[in-house]
Amino acid sequence: MNHLKTDTVNLHLGLEKPVRILQLTDVHISLADERDVKKPLLTTVKEPLEFAAKRRSVFFGQGRERDPIGYFQEAMEYSKEFDCTVITGDLIDFNSWANYDCVKEILAGKDYLFTPGSHEFCPNYFEAKARHMDAVQSIFRGNILFESRVVGGVNVVAMDNSYYMWTEEQMELMKTEIARGLPILLFCHVPIRGEYHPQGGGLQLSEDLLKLNIEFNQLLQDESLIKAVFCGHMHTAQHYLGSSPKPCYIMPSLFTGVVGEIVID
Ligand SMILES: [Fe+2]
Ligand SMILES: [Fe+2]
Repeated sequence: MNHLKTDTVNLHLGLEKPVRILQLTDVHISLADERDVKKPLLTTVKEPLEFAAKRRSVFFGQGRERDPIGYFQEAMEYSKEFDCTVITGDLIDFNSWANYDCVKEILAGKDYLFTPGSHEFCPNYFEAKARHMDAVQSIFRGNILFESRVVGGVNVVAMDNSYYMWTEEQMELMKTEIARGLPILLFCHVPIRGEYHPQGGGLQLSEDLLKLNIEFNQLLQDESLIKAVFCGHMHTAQHYLGSSPKPCYIMPSLFTGVVGEIVID
C-alpha cells in the first residue's frame, strides 16, 4: 500500500497495445550535511544546514503523509509497473552533497529518463549551470540534456529546458527524432506556451540564441508528430489542452504525493 495519488492523462494515438508512462516531477529534496558546511556547492547560501531545514519545511507538513523523499521512494517502487518512467526535474531543491547522495541511492539500479528542472542548476545563471553540470550529470543515467526512447511505438523524448531555453544541439537532435516518423511525447521541465520567452530567471540570451529559441518553439508547436508536451515546474495540475496547437499537460509536484500516469492507446 503506498500513499501516492495519481493525475491521469489518456491519449489516443491508435496503438496496437496500450503504453503506460509514469511521470514524476518536482520532488524538491532538500538535504545538507557537514560536507555542505565544509565545501558548499551552493555558494550563495551562508548556513547550509539551516537553509536545508527551512526548505524542507516548505515541502513537508500541511497534512502530507510522507516527506518528499518518502514519496519519491514510493514512486520509484511504483515505476516498476510502468513501461517507462520520466522524471521532469526539480528532483533536488538545491545543489548539495547530501542531495546528490540521496538521489543516487534511490535511483541505483532503476530505469528512467531524466530531464533537469530550474532547481538542479540554481541559481539560474549560465555560470551556475556550467559549474554544476558534470556533478548533476553523474547522478543520472542517460544524457540529461536530451534523451529518447521508443516504447511500444511511441517515441518518448526528454529535453532539458531548465533555463527556459533550448540549444542548437537540441534542435538538431529533435529533428533527428522527428525523422524517425514515430509519434513523439515531449517531456521537459518548464511549460511551453504560445508566446514563449526564454529570458527567465535572470538569463540574458544573445540575439542568435533568442532567434533560435523562437524558431525551435515554432517547430515544436507546428510538428504534427509531436503529440503532447508534459511538464512540471508549476507544482499544480494544469492541462492546457486547447490553449496552443500542442496539448500541454503540467503535472502536479510529487512533494504533494501526486504522480502522473499517462496511458496511450
Ligand atoms: Fe519545482
Ligand atoms: Fe522549476
